[in-house]
Order: sequence, then C-alpha cells, then structure tokens
Amino acid sequence: MSPFKTAQIHLVSSHREVYEPCDDSFALVDALLADRVNLLNHHPTLCLEVGCGSGYVITSLALMLGKEASGTHYIATDINPHATRVTQETLEAHGVHAELISTDIAYGLEKRLASSVDVLIVNPPYVPTPEDEVGLEGIASAWAGGENGRSVIDRMLPVADALLSDKGWLYMVFLEANNPSQICLQMREKGYASRIVVQRLTEEESLHVIKFWKNADLQVHGKDSSHKTGTISTS
Ligand SMILES: C[S@@+](CC[C@H](N)C(=O)[O-])C[C@H]1O[C@@H](n2cnc3c(N)ncnc32)[C@H](O)[C@@H]1O
Repeated sequence: MSPFKTAQIHLVSSHREVYEPCDDSFALVDALLADRVNLLNHHPTLCLEVGCGSGYVITSLALMLGKEASGTHYIATDINPHATRVTQETLEAHGVHAELISTDIAYGLEKRLASSVDVLIVNPPYVPTPEDEVGLEGIASAWAGGENGRSVIDRMLPVADALLSDKGWLYMVFLEANNPSQICLQMREKGYASRIVVQRLTEEESLHVIKFWKNADLQVHGKDSSHKTGTISTS
C-alpha cells in the first residue's frame, strides 16, 4: 500500500485527450480530505466516481481511506475510453484498485448500482459552451457543459439520486456560473441537504465543492420544508 494520502502528480498517467488534474480536481480532493474522518466513520461499501479523467481523484480517495476502509469497492466511469485506460495506469502506479467502465455517466450500471452507492464523486464538464460542443469525442467532453454549463450536470443529478444509498453522500464540483444555489434547492426538493465543503477563487474560476446527503426530514416535507434544516451552509 502506498504511503501517500493523495495521488502524486508525478505518478498520474496522462494522454493528450485526457483531462489533466487542475484546480477543480485539487478542490475536489481537498474537499474529500477535509471530510476524511467523516468518510472513514461512514464505512462506505461502494464509492463511485463519474468522469474519472486521469484517475487523480478516485486514486486519492482510495489512498486516503486506505486500509481503514479495506472492504470498500471503488468504481470509476468515463465517457472517454482513453480516460479509463489512463486511470487504470494511475491506480496501478499507486498500488490501489478500482473497477473501470467506459460509459455515459453510469449507463448500463443502473440496476447493479441502484440505491447502493455510499460515496459518489463528480467533477463534471461545467464550463458554459455552445450546446453543440457538449458530448464531442476526446478532450472537449472534459469541460463542455452547454448552456450555463448545466447540460451534463442536469443529466447527472437524477442518476446520482437513483444510485445513492440511503446513507449516500454526493460530492460535486460547480462553478458560480452553474448557479449552485439553484441546484441545491432542486436537490432539496428531492430530499437532499447540502453543504459547501470547499469554496475557491482561482485566477479563472469561482469553484464550489458541495456535499449532498439525504435528509429524512426534507424527504417527508418535500417542497414545504423551506423552514427546515439542511439549507446550504458554509464550513
Ligand atoms: C472536468 S473533467 C474531470 C476529470 C477528473 N475527475 C478530475 O477531476 O481531474 C470531466 C470528466 O468527465 C468526463 N465526462 C464528460 N461527460 C461525461 C459523461 N456523460 N459520462 C461520463 N463521463 C463524462 C470527461 O471525459 C472528463 O474526463
């Protein structure tokens, strides 16, 4: 087992058509690190990353949970087949393991993973672009997010809801331009509380990593729960 708590950049594999770890990837890993003790106490059986790119994030998660979460199974998907291959190399270089699947979000895994993912991590294509740039082959699929950067995000959220277990946690990266407050309200109507784990202003972007979890109170009261706990809070 590797002595590192997160993936080491010099051991992260690369390919010209695969997204390299960047500020958003680092923000997501920092959010997971900040929540590491909670994650260990959470005893996740199944962790899934959608859109694994270079493998930097899923490898970091496997390393930071390490032996203390030895029963945990890791799965990572990406629509770009080069990415799943590069992720395999990154995992191997760090001595950790995940099951890799080239697919659109989690297409083909719906039945197998329904209500069973305890930790779901996503750094989606969130950059506002013309709609016709979304879903192109190769590196463009890493960032092209369509109108308000929401095209892929809005397809991913219902999948997340279907795959998360009752105790499931979702960590997702957003830009200010994606209107994360509105996403939190939308998730709230489905019974999810939310909290900003990392908020970061880079030279180019205003990034948020938001954690969502099911809150029974919100599920019972649905849309009428605006006075209940579980609103967006910073930490
Ligand atoms: C911003 S990159 C993040 C990569 C990596 N997780 C990281 O943080 O460095 C987004 C990734 O999502 C993948 N992706 C885009 N659309 C997807 C889809 N519909 N289903 C699965 N993966 C997708 C891209 O190929 C890319 O690897």
